[in-house]
Formats: sequence, structure tokens, C-alpha cells
Amino acid sequence: MDIRPAHVRDAARIESIYRHYALHSVLTADVDDSPTAREWELRLEQLAASGYPTLVAAADRDVVGYALLMPWLAKPAFAHTAENSIYLDPNAVGAGIGRQLLDRLLDDARACGIREVIALVADGEHEGRASRALHLGAGYRHVGRLQRVGSKRGRITDVELLQRSLQPSD
Ligand SMILES: CC(C)(COP(=O)(O)OP(=O)(O)OC[C@H]1O[C@@H](n2cnc3c(N)ncnc32)[C@H](O)[C@@H]1OP(=O)(O)O)[C@@H](O)C(=O)NCCC(=O)NCCS
Repeated sequence: MDIRPAHVRDAARIESIYRHYALHSVLTADVDDSPTAREWELRLEQLAASGYPTLVAAADRDVVGYALLMPWLAKPAFAHTAENSIYLDPNAVGAGIGRQLLDRLLDDARACGIREVIALVADGEHEGRASRALHLGAGYRHVGRLQRVGSKRGRITDVELLQRSLQPSD
């Protein structure tokens, strides 16, 4: 498995991976308005230009997942804090790729000066179980739960707030 920085040419694969979860799960807030490949290209460019790490996992050159950091609330006072996003092709889950991607993302986050990373996990007891386990296993702590904030596919869901400190004392 090759974990490498995302390139704009990966946008079409990223679009297709994310769209699957937008259409078929409650894990994303997007429904039928998930970003187009062109919008992903712009997003990858903007994140890279702002210094946020964007990564893909590739097997035999086929991108099977991605992970990235993005601004948290996009407010200047929170510039040292980022939110992470990580999605794998459904055929690639459960084989340790998420762990490899997230560990590398946290290393890159440290290297670019991010001190706190937030993960928002929807439906952590059901569809979001793998995400919850992944993040807790990577040292994220449960810091809160937004109750009944999601409404998708006929279900009302909670969103759990998980936080990983990258400060030296943690
Ligand atoms: C969440 C996701 C990125 C995890 O990646 P993965 O490669 O499937 O997970 P891994 O095989 O690396 O396993 C990571 C940990 O989660 C656990 N895990 C994996 N799938 C699990 C499941 N379905 N239920 C419970 N635990 C699970 C593993 O046992 C492992 O635990 P450990 O760290 O204690 O060993 C991937 O499953 C995925 O893309 N899911 C759908 C999209 C999603 O939920 N994205 C996150 C949105 S916040």
C-alpha cells in the first residue's frame, strides 16, 4: 500500500469514494449534493496551498482511500486546530488501510504545526462504528456529543466529537 500526497489527478477517484457514502450512508452530511470531481480538484489545490495535508492510499496505482485535514470552523483563532476527513472505497475497508492513512495524516499534521485535530463521527454506534474505533485507537478522546443533529435516510443521528491533541505533553 502506497500512502502519498493527493494530487489533483486523484480528484475523480476521491469524488467517487466520497459520493458513495453521501448517497448510501448517514456518515456524511452531504446527500445528493456531494462535490463534483472539479470541485474536489479545487478543494485539493486550496488545502495544499493553505498547508493542510491531503493523502491518498493507492494499491497498484488505484486510489482506494483518502484522508485530509481542513480548517476547523475556518476562523483565525482556530488556525492551530484542524478537522480530519477519511474515507475508503467500500471494497478496501477493514484491512488496516484507515489506520495507516490516519497515522500518516497525524504525522503530517504535527509537521505542519497543527496542534489539535477534531473528528466528527456520525452514528458512532451503528454505521460510524469503524470510524469511532479507528479514531479512538489513534489516541482521539471523546469530548462531546451533539444529540439528534443529523437527519438523513429516514434516521435521526447524533454526532460525536473526538479530539486528538498533538501537543508534546499528550
Ligand atoms: C472508517 C474507516 C476509514 C476505517 O478504516 P479501515 O481501514 O476500515 O479500518 P482499519 O482496518 O484500519 O481498522 C482501524 C480500527 O478500527 C476497527 N474497526 C474496523 N472496522 C470496524 C468495524 N466495522 N466495527 C468496529 N471496529 C472496526 C479495527 O479493529 C481497528 O481497531 P484497532 O485500532 O483497535 O486495531 C473506513 O472503515 C471507512 O472508510 N469507513 C466508511 C467511511 C467513514 O466512516 N469515514 C469516517 C467518517 S468520520
